[in-house]
Amino acid sequence: MGDKKRLAGIGGIAVLCLVLLSGAALLEQWRNRQTETDPGYGPAAKSLVTTFKGDARTSRAFTWYSEDPESPGVLQLAQGSDAELLEKGDVQSIEADSSVIEVGEGRENGVHKVEVTGLNPGTDYVYRVGDGTEGGWSKPGVFTTEGEGEDSFTFLNVTDSQGASEADFALWGETLDRAFAVFPDAKWILHNGDLTEDPEDEAGWDAFFVNAATWINRIPLMPVTGNHDEVDKESARFTSHFNLPDNGAGKSAAGTTYSFDYGNAHIVVLNTESKIKTQTDWLRQDLRNTAKAWKIVAIHRPAYGGNMYEKIADWIDVFDEFGVDLVLQGHNHEYSRSFPLKDGEIVPEGEGTVYATTNASGAKFNDKKEDQFYHAVHFQNGKQMFAGITVSGTTLTYRAYDVEGQLLDEFALRH
Ligand SMILES: [Fe+2]
Repeated sequence: MGDKKRLAGIGGIAVLCLVLLSGAALLEQWRNRQTETDPGYGPAAKSLVTTFKGDARTSRAFTWYSEDPESPGVLQLAQGSDAELLEKGDVQSIEADSSVIEVGEGRENGVHKVEVTGLNPGTDYVYRVGDGTEGGWSKPGVFTTEGEGEDSFTFLNVTDSQGASEADFALWGETLDRAFAVFPDAKWILHNGDLTEDPEDEAGWDAFFVNAATWINRIPLMPVTGNHDEVDKESARFTSHFNLPDNGAGKSAAGTTYSFDYGNAHIVVLNTESKIKTQTDWLRQDLRNTAKAWKIVAIHRPAYGGNMYEKIADWIDVFDEFGVDLVLQGHNHEYSRSFPLKDGEIVPEGEGTVYATTNASGAKFNDKKEDQFYHAVHFQNGKQMFAGITVSGTTLTYRAYDVEGQLLDEFALRH
């Protein structure tokens, strides 16, 4: 009996050791996982995102938050792609335009915005942001300016990441990961609105940015204002996160309407949530002023989606008047793509505007709405989707994929 007891005792200790060892291994795995997914923000440089503000060939804009509302903001930049250049190269330091924002009951963060100008076209730059102290920097990032005469390029379209939990935003991150696996050379991302569920919930913004961090510290993310971004005409929590062109409609909140150029394309972003009438004149003027071959408009609530947002009917007249090629939409959380349309009717290819809604890039999907006469393609697959849009000389190609990498729709427009 004594031997048996001793053996049982040794066995018990062995089992305990195994449990402890596997526990330590799991902990180690978890720690490594934390390192892998660490976006390199640090408390002095979180929610970092790059955007276009001025000429994409010679400038680039950045926004980040700091946990400390009083923290200064600095961006350091060097030409080249080697992180060591920031330690010993010809480094330019730019002080951020900093402000304070309330992010919850009695909680404040710092908001830091920088626009870097005077850059060379088609050139790599390495940079970091932070409070200027040792240990107060983000991981270095490398971005590339638009090349001179770059008339062939791809950009990504996603919409409605609209998350409320970490799990929701993990799906948003996976959608972007797949989008860049399919389109590794995509130059920027157009997000058609409803980035988070509740713009007053900073944890939602944290998760939105963390899950996209590996892309948006170098690839510009250009956002459209959705009904979950501007609520009751209030959009400050949304616009504080992005440093965007300030050429928008005068009466709209800065950052909710703007336009920019890339290659031979002109992109106009409108705000369907407020001041709709006053944007119509601005839109007409903006489209009159561009000489770019391709005209693309981005809106949240759809002109021709699964349904039509009646309040923006005047905008459709302007799209027709100026021959807008493509209108990218959001809001419906289903996939739809119209025939070419003009004056509310289907017209031959090249004579009208195509309206597309690339489902959603988050967790939420709606039931498929009724088919309409204008639908060329209309479905609900219940999977996160993205589109790659390639503008190449006189051809624009749109390809929509699901998060698993399956091509679900494709069309081309020609001039
Ligand atoms: Fe939405």
